[in-house]
Amino acid sequence: MKRVLLGVSGGISAYKSAELVSLLIKHDYEVRVVMTTAAMQFIAPLTFQALSGNPVATQLLDENQENSMGHINLARWADVFLIAPATANCIAKLSHGIADDLLSTLYLAAECPVYIAPAMNQAMWHKSITQENSRRLRQQGVGFIGPEAGRQACGDIGLGRMSEPAAILQFLEAQQLPSILHAKKLLITAGPTREALDPVRYISNKSSGKMGYALAEQAQKLGAEVTLISGPVHLPKLNNVKTIFVESAEQMYQAVMQEITGQDIMIAAAAVADYTPKKIASDKIKKQGSTIQLDLEKTQDIVASVANLTDKPFTVGFAAETQDLKQYALGKLQRKKLDMIAANWVAKAEGGFDAEQNALHVFWNGGEKQLEMMHKQVLAKQLLTLIVERIKLL
Ligand code: PMT
Repeated sequence: MKRVLLGVSGGISAYKSAELVSLLIKHDYEVRVVMTTAAMQFIAPLTFQALSGNPVATQLLDENQENSMGHINLARWADVFLIAPATANCIAKLSHGIADDLLSTLYLAAECPVYIAPAMNQAMWHKSITQENSRRLRQQGVGFIGPEAGRQACGDIGLGRMSEPAAILQFLEAQQLPSILHAKKLLITAGPTREALDPVRYISNKSSGKMGYALAEQAQKLGAEVTLISGPVHLPKLNNVKTIFVESAEQMYQAVMQEITGQDIMIAAAAVADYTPKKIASDKIKKQGSTIQLDLEKTQDIVASVANLTDKPFTVGFAAETQDLKQYALGKLQRKKLDMIAANWVAKAEGGFDAEQNALHVFWNGGEKQLEMMHKQVLAKQLLTLIVERIKLL
């Protein structure tokens, strides 16, 4: 994939797209840029022309191009169509097949992989219609890069910032690995568990499922047959991944044990409750004195149970730690008899739970590797590559 068709729609983040073009060129991509009319209010086509070394396309009906069907040719030329920034309006149009300008027409004409980097105000991103439109695009096979959380141009703080150009480049590069997991079967756990206290309350944690889903998505793209055991999350269901939804640690244990036979690799990215209420009250627990005692008992350790099977798959655990990362991770590697453990520093807001990015320190018997902070999709691919390397060496 060396030819990137970059679509720029009209948002303040369009200035970042100039840096993106420059980065892509530095990494030997050939880039052609298509801009919407609104995008030209934020940044001049000449900037992209100078950076990409190619004329910028802005019109669907271009007198110079149309006799040779310019939009079809551009779509055919591209190895990948990247839209960054993709505004809420752009996402709405693409998801409904509206083709009233060059960028949206190219989306319909493109047969190559399409990726979009959304950018908008956080309220616009969270609006149910935008979420619904995004879900439709994902279902059509469009890959999403971001959006990221943080301070926005309008002063709001939240999810909606366009991913940084370096992260977008990393994402594109990660799409180019060969099918290293061809014919392998992977079982992955993701998300939190919910341990019911009564009919309306439960104990849970901050896991969003993004890390486990990224692993499942990337493993599937790398050629694996993937089974995903998912706790309750707010993520779109993955295409071509067998997904079993569960709530509690006990249900996750049962689902994993049901599916484990014949698996080559198991990755436990789920944040499973270590303890669960001994009894679930049949009615809502009433407010009583100033304190309340909860009687909890240990849950079954899912990943350790898998690692103890006679015919066990290559078993990879995660370790979420807020102190002495290496010591605790190595302890879990030995105690649970794992083949590999991905230690996750979760004491800070960036990375770890419910973030777009993450960093991992991976350990195995006699070795270790630090995977720096990066987009979870890219990180997932790097972890899977490391697993394949280790399996080949065993
Ligand atoms: O979901 P995200 O928002 O993307 O966040 C990702 C993450 C931080 C949840 C993920 O990267 C991560 O670190 N997952 C493991 C979290 C955790 O529960 O760690 P732990 O150190 O408590 O557990 C160690 C290992 O044992 C984990 O592989 C866990 O899945 C497994 N375990 C734990 C308890 C249990 N009863 N059964 C298990 O299998």
